Amino acid sequence: MRINKFLADCGIGSRRACDKIVEEGRVQIDGRTARLGDEVGDRNIVMIDGEVLNRNIKHSYYLMNKPKGCVCTVKDDKGRRTVMDYLPESAGRVYPVGRLDYDTEGLLLFTDDGDLAFRLTHPKNEIPKTYLVKIEGIVSEQDLNRLRSGVFLDGKRTQKSHIKVVSAMKDSMRLHITITEGKNRQVRRMFAAIGKEVVFLKRIRIGELGLGSLERGKTRKLSSEEVYYLKNL
Ligand code: URA
Repeated sequence: MRINKFLADCGIGSRRACDKIVEEGRVQIDGRTARLGDEVGDRNIVMIDGEVLNRNIKHSYYLMNKPKGCVCTVKDDKGRRTVMDYLPESAGRVYPVGRLDYDTEGLLLFTDDGDLAFRLTHPKNEIPKTYLVKIEGIVSEQDLNRLRSGVFLDGKRTQKSHIKVVSAMKDSMRLHITITEGKNRQVRRMFAAIGKEVVFLKRIRIGELGLGSLERGKTRKLSSEEVYYLKNL
């Protein structure tokens, strides 16, 4: 099998992305630097960035448009509906990456790749997550700037956020907010800190990865390009 296909099958990225990785000299076959077009068989030991790749470990990656009214756990003690109820059986033993509240909807990833799940949820990596927020009433420019520069939650200032007003009606507002942390109920609590209640909350993007036209409650597999993108986010 060609080295680029082998790497792509191991979930490293698209074949084109894998060609680039080979060209960068990051791949070794049996201890020597791989070149484009090299072939690998069952007996070869392939390493990327010094780590051995095991073609038998294939991870699964899914994206769900979570509906509200379900919890982000594999099993709920209180018997509530969970996000697992919306996953197709063929998804196997994947688990949700991070959390969305019971009443929050939108983009939720699932995987059995512990490394990626850890990367995406570790606060030090500051992965940007964008939410569509609807609030009742109008937020003043001054309060928007308070949210942008950080408000105090649990005695600590939240990191800078990016906020864009999507629409402002007489008695409600829709905004996009991008945060790089994942404190418990962070968006709701940030708005509560300026005296506003969030009446609708939906995660629409992780980095540049969005929901596209995926319907509420539906799940799809991530493409190898998307997996590669998330691994390098
Ligand atoms: N912020 C919230 O308040 N809730 C979520 O589910 C995610 C972010």
